[in-house]
Amino acid sequence: MLQSFNKINKVSGTLSLSGDKSISHRALLISSLANGKSTIKNLSESDDVLSTIHCLRSLGIEIESKDNKCVVHGKGYKGYKNPAVPLDAGNSGTTARLLAGILATQNFESVITGDASLSSRPMKRIIEPLTQMGSKIKSSNEGKLPLKVLPSESLQAISYNMTVASAQVKSAILLAGLHLDEQTSVIESVQTRNHTENLLSLSVVKEGSNIISSVSRSNYPEPNEYFIPGDISSAMIFIVLALLTKNSELTIKNVSLNPTRIKCLSILKSMGGKIQIDERGVSNNEIFGDLIVKSSELSNVKIDKQTIPLIIDEIPILAVAGIFSEGVFELQGASELRVKESDRVKAICSNLQKVGLDVTEYDEGFRVSGAIKKQSEPFDSFGDHRITMAFAILSLLMNSGGRVDGFECVSVSNPKFLEQLNSISN
Ligand code: S3P
Repeated sequence: MLQSFNKINKVSGTLSLSGDKSISHRALLISSLANGKSTIKNLSESDDVLSTIHCLRSLGIEIESKDNKCVVHGKGYKGYKNPAVPLDAGNSGTTARLLAGILATQNFESVITGDASLSSRPMKRIIEPLTQMGSKIKSSNEGKLPLKVLPSESLQAISYNMTVASAQVKSAILLAGLHLDEQTSVIESVQTRNHTENLLSLSVVKEGSNIISSVSRSNYPEPNEYFIPGDISSAMIFIVLALLTKNSELTIKNVSLNPTRIKCLSILKSMGGKIQIDERGVSNNEIFGDLIVKSSELSNVKIDKQTIPLIIDEIPILAVAGIFSEGVFELQGASELRVKESDRVKAICSNLQKVGLDVTEYDEGFRVSGAIKKQSEPFDSFGDHRITMAFAILSLLMNSGGRVDGFECVSVSNPKFLEQLNSISN
């Protein structure tokens, strides 16, 4: 679907976004493990989270959804039913990888599948540590989906040094470790998002430059009540729009302010972005609050390699902010961008070239400078929701507007994007 956007004149009003996608997946998975009824308020409405619901239902978990409240009837320790069908994770890497961690400890065989994009993404990163724990995971497709997860008699706790900075890999190991009596530890030298640790209240200690998260069956969850703060990655899309549109002011209510997720806000603030952050509360160890964003003049800043995992999903929209900011936007050390829902280095570079910017593609990043010189060709979504939204924003900021081809994949993270955009556009 080709979606057109006219240049926006002014952004104003208030947004309340549906729950953070990463926290929503985890709240569902953890609730499905607890023995009894959990409630989740403000669950993400994304297609990705629907994929997690769909997989859990195939595993015998009853899930009801009504009036922005979701009820999960968890089945307790090893209470999943043997699924009659392959578990389809759709486009969702978080569903496939986190579920693999849980399935690795179950007493039945299961198969995890996904769409074409997910089936081209690396799974060896979870197969390797889960195999070290004694689980039996087979890929017939060179370490990619579909994965067959076989029951294993002998599982053991491990202490694992992360080889790739990935919260999905860390969480797969922690969720497997949750089923073992002995303590499993994951050692990160580069920090990644910590929602699994928060929702399970795990022990996390700093030793020198390492962060060590530990889990065992003693952390097994009880039924609980969750409130999911608004999705900060979806919020970022509107924040950049408000910052770069003249005479604008936007409030976003109850958004996640988890410290491992708001590095993108610190970067925009250091670029000169006027963003006020008002903390409002904490739910299940997850901080949330309101953001007030005002039009600003921005200048590019150096983005440190260590922070890349903390802004990994926001890089497409930060690149759009970068082209309207003084100086050059440059990113290095972001090889993980190549194995997301699309090759995001390629996707960003090729779209920016379409409008005549000076773009240099690196193996692990890119550099953009110059000015927009032409505005006729539509941008390509590359079937990737974050690319879609970033280039929708670029379209809204260009003098003669713009178009995004393959726009429908926006629903992977935010099916209400257009509705929300209309509510704050003037
Ligand atoms: C996620 C972690 C990140 C992120 C993804 C969601 C999560 O992936 O890109 O959108 O919920 O754990 P990696 O952990 O693979 O970097």
